[in-house]
Amino acid sequence: MELDSKEIIRLIQTHPTSVITTVNDEGVCNAASFSWLSPVSFDPPMVAIMVSPERYTYGNITSNEEFTLNVLTKHFIDDVMYVGKESFRDSPNKLEDTDLRLEESNKVEPPRIQEAVVWMECVVDGIHEAGDHFIVVGEVVAAEVDEEFWKDGRFLAEEAETLHHIGGKKFLVGGNMVEWEG
Ligand SMILES: Cc1cc2nc3c(=O)[nH]c(=O)nc-3n(C[C@H](O)[C@H](O)[C@H](O)COP(=O)(O)O)c2cc1C
Repeated sequence: MELDSKEIIRLIQTHPTSVITTVNDEGVCNAASFSWLSPVSFDPPMVAIMVSPERYTYGNITSNEEFTLNVLTKHFIDDVMYVGKESFRDSPNKLEDTDLRLEESNKVEPPRIQEAVVWMECVVDGIHEAGDHFIVVGEVVAAEVDEEFWKDGRFLAEEAETLHHIGGKKFLVGGNMVEWEG
């Protein structure tokens, strides 16, 4: 069965949908949702987020070169969709319309989101053009996890019920875990 380009991309399911915060040149925070993201390096720890140049977030990242990555749970699906639909350009106060609250980060200027269960503070290491998006690689300079969801060296995504975007309005949440017995 042949697929068009949008359908092809949806064949690869993703890491937890996250809200990325950035700041503009006036120091004002913006938040937007990102489901295209990936770990890229253990040492130093690095993650990549795929950012369309149409996002206000993209301009913030290229000028301030810092972002925070905040993993939210299914309880915040409305807010994830809201900040993922509204642009700061038209709705500079979009965060005020949500239940998401900002708190100071430890090492970067963009604040992080209190309601998250995973927080990563990142400094941009490189930006690479790829088709209609840019691969923004960030070095994780600080990270924390809600200890309720950390056990035996593993993040309990299934218990935290993080959101994994399939496409459009659909997400996988938690799900069954399979352990290889080999
Ligand atoms: C669930 C979800 C996932 C998204 N993932 C991405 C993504 O990976 N990359 C991207 O460039 N935009 C993504 N978006 C779109 C942006 O979040 C959206 O365009 C947002 O309004 C940008 O806000 P800004 O212009 O204030 O930066 C996603 C939106 C939603 C709802």
